[in-house]
Amino acid sequence: MNRVLKSSIKVISIILVLFIITALSAYFYFSSNVLTFETTYSDENFDLQEITIKGRKYIDRNGNNKLDLYEDHRQTIGTRVEDLLPRLTIEEKIRLLKGSGMSSAIGIGDNLVPGAAGTTVGIPRLGIPRLILSDGPAGLRIHSVRENDDKKYYCTAFPIGTLLASTWNKELVNEVGRAMGSEALDYGVDLILGPGVNIHRHPLCGRNFEYYSEDPILTGEIGASMINGIESNGVGATPKHFVANNQETSRNINNSIVSDRAMREIYLKGFEIIVKKSQPWAIMSSYNKVNGVYTSESKPLLTDILRDEWGYEGIVMTDWFGGNNPSEQIKAGNDLLEPGTKNIWDDLTKAYEDGDLSLKEIDLSVSRILGLIIKSKKMSNYDFTNEPDLDKNALITRRSASEGMVLLKNEATLPFKDIKNIALMGSTSFNFIAGGTGSGDVEEAYTVSLEDALLESGYEINKLSKETFELHRKENEEAFEKKNPLFAMLDPSLPPEIDYPIKLIKEFAKTSDIAIITIGRNSGETSDRLEKDDFLLSKKESQMIKNTCEVFHSLGKKVLIVLNVGGVIETASWNDLPDAILVAWQAGQESGNSVVDIISGVVNPSGKLPMTFPVNLSDHGSAKNFPSGVKATMTDFLMASITGSSEEKPKEDQTKNIDYTIYEEGVYVGYRHFDKKEIDVSYPFGYGLSYTEFDYSDLKIKEEENVIKVTVKITNIGSFPGKEVIQIYTSKPDSNIDRPIKELRSFEKTSNIEVGESINLNFNIPTSELSYWNVENSSWEIEKGVYDILVGSSSRDIELIGQVYIN
Ligand code: BGC
Repeated sequence: MNRVLKSSIKVISIILVLFIITALSAYFYFSSNVLTFETTYSDENFDLQEITIKGRKYIDRNGNNKLDLYEDHRQTIGTRVEDLLPRLTIEEKIRLLKGSGMSSAIGIGDNLVPGAAGTTVGIPRLGIPRLILSDGPAGLRIHSVRENDDKKYYCTAFPIGTLLASTWNKELVNEVGRAMGSEALDYGVDLILGPGVNIHRHPLCGRNFEYYSEDPILTGEIGASMINGIESNGVGATPKHFVANNQETSRNINNSIVSDRAMREIYLKGFEIIVKKSQPWAIMSSYNKVNGVYTSESKPLLTDILRDEWGYEGIVMTDWFGGNNPSEQIKAGNDLLEPGTKNIWDDLTKAYEDGDLSLKEIDLSVSRILGLIIKSKKMSNYDFTNEPDLDKNALITRRSASEGMVLLKNEATLPFKDIKNIALMGSTSFNFIAGGTGSGDVEEAYTVSLEDALLESGYEINKLSKETFELHRKENEEAFEKKNPLFAMLDPSLPPEIDYPIKLIKEFAKTSDIAIITIGRNSGETSDRLEKDDFLLSKKESQMIKNTCEVFHSLGKKVLIVLNVGGVIETASWNDLPDAILVAWQAGQESGNSVVDIISGVVNPSGKLPMTFPVNLSDHGSAKNFPSGVKATMTDFLMASITGSSEEKPKEDQTKNIDYTIYEEGVYVGYRHFDKKEIDVSYPFGYGLSYTEFDYSDLKIKEEENVIKVTVKITNIGSFPGKEVIQIYTSKPDSNIDRPIKELRSFEKTSNIEVGESINLNFNIPTSELSYWNVENSSWEIEKGVYDILVGSSSRDIELIGQVYIN
């Protein structure tokens, strides 16, 4: 017995020692390879002196008492870069090609902005500062709390990308971008890692909430407006993830197999519009491969198309730890490797020494990075305040959020009249979701729930419904605690839903004027959503809606459903039950207030869906080729973070939709598919109700100098002032090629139109926009002949049709 005990102790001790050695080695490896390998070069305490020449002050960055060209802000960026580049040693150049590691993201070490996802490295000898790169699409993601500092560094949680696209309002999105950019500037962030502009290929992509739409024109136009807004502050934007990154499952290795035509007309198109209309400072390449090559290593994508064809002038950076071969990345035109590791640094040095990476290739990327640094506010020693105007930005959030919410159904229910006491149901009503998880998340100071907002506006929350929630929260205390963001990303699930026995609902109905039920959903990077209990309602949710509608209707009272979701959910099986349905999306920190602005009638809803709500998930063109049910674990996540993308598996070991995904549907994404196959949908692309009605008339179309000019008159014929989104589609009924029935070409949102008032809108569509990608000739081509111009209030509500002849 004694011997058994002794040997057990021995075995346990050995295991313990081995465990400690492994943990220490892993920590040491992680720390020296990913965290602290650049510390000496991130030192920013260089003492910059000013010099005065002819009464003007300049920063003498290299301390030589002279004004060098690169220090002279009157010179063009090109001239300054040309002067600076030869001053760098090859070691400094290679160092600039990658970031300084993950210490800023983790918030350790000598950090300017703890929580920022990455940095570039500085060159103290020449007075070249580090740039700070921070997520993301719904506002800055930096740590709100800093070591030895009582101040809180909260950021505004703006509405998610999908909501902003649902506004269809380019000016408003530009205003949101200006606010986001000003917050970045105030916190000393130089580049925002956003917006997210991938296409909603399938409703269950875990990051669709960060992205805009299933349509590339809406994506491109909204994206360009956002970027122009952000960059008007002198900070950069980084539209991401270039390109065909449409699922999260296996995101570091997945190979998207896509036809050239679908690439050009769908997946590249949004980026093309963005480059041409906003020339962003940076673009982030994606994790995935396209047709067998990592996008970050693809010269055809990053150089031939992006730069040579579209004229892109900014830098390309990798997604975090993305790609596999650093020297191939630089050669392809991926200038900056983020967040940077010691291994990458060593690989690049070796590639240079072996002659595999030439000085010319290094210089090209370094020049672009220097251009970015010179453009930044850091280069003029901008003194950031750390005091953003959070109150002002909260107001923009509230206003933009209410404009992007989409009213799906309204049977004489909204806006509320004679409503005082509200039976508030569904756990999310009390616990609103501001935005998704992962890098699309924000550390905001507060989120206004529907409950808070209703009370604030003078409504009463039914006492019993409130008590029911409080009891439920007590019973599930742990589930309601705020999760650590990393854990929330790997498990974005929400607290459990409340059980409402019919007897209880009857009590609610007797003592209230209306029921509001909120259905909540959340998701984020690393995993895709599931059909069960996510796209579909859970049993408990279906039961709650069904029973509440039955009981309230039996007393002549109404039920409103609020969808606090990041993407599409199933509605066809239950949307006949409630009296009204409002898609509130995840609307940022003012969510509850924005919902109440709509239901109380302060704001007339004018949002329209940027994607189709299908009847069934399987109706989608991409349904056969999308992963289902694979959840990322902490180990998957950490391994991908430390090792980057792994080597390709042998073909026979590859699994469909995980290792590779075939985009078999081609250009038939979203409404392009549903229209072509004549499939009924629950709510079509572009759909959304208003409290008023609009009349469309006086359509005029002419073609002049290769521009199709369309004018249309819109009259408010209802009884509420309101805004309308006018959508222009084109169609080529007698086309000789296989092409979508109709495609969005242009859109405008009106200003507020008063009751009885009319306004005229003009659209200018370059004739070249009617082209399709001819795969055989590898070129955009246009079919001659008659095109229908369809003017709609949604993709399936075409109000006016005209024709134009293209010769
Ligand atoms: C995401 C990027 C993000 C980056 C830095 C990656 O995991 O895919 O969108 O910008 O992390 O946080």
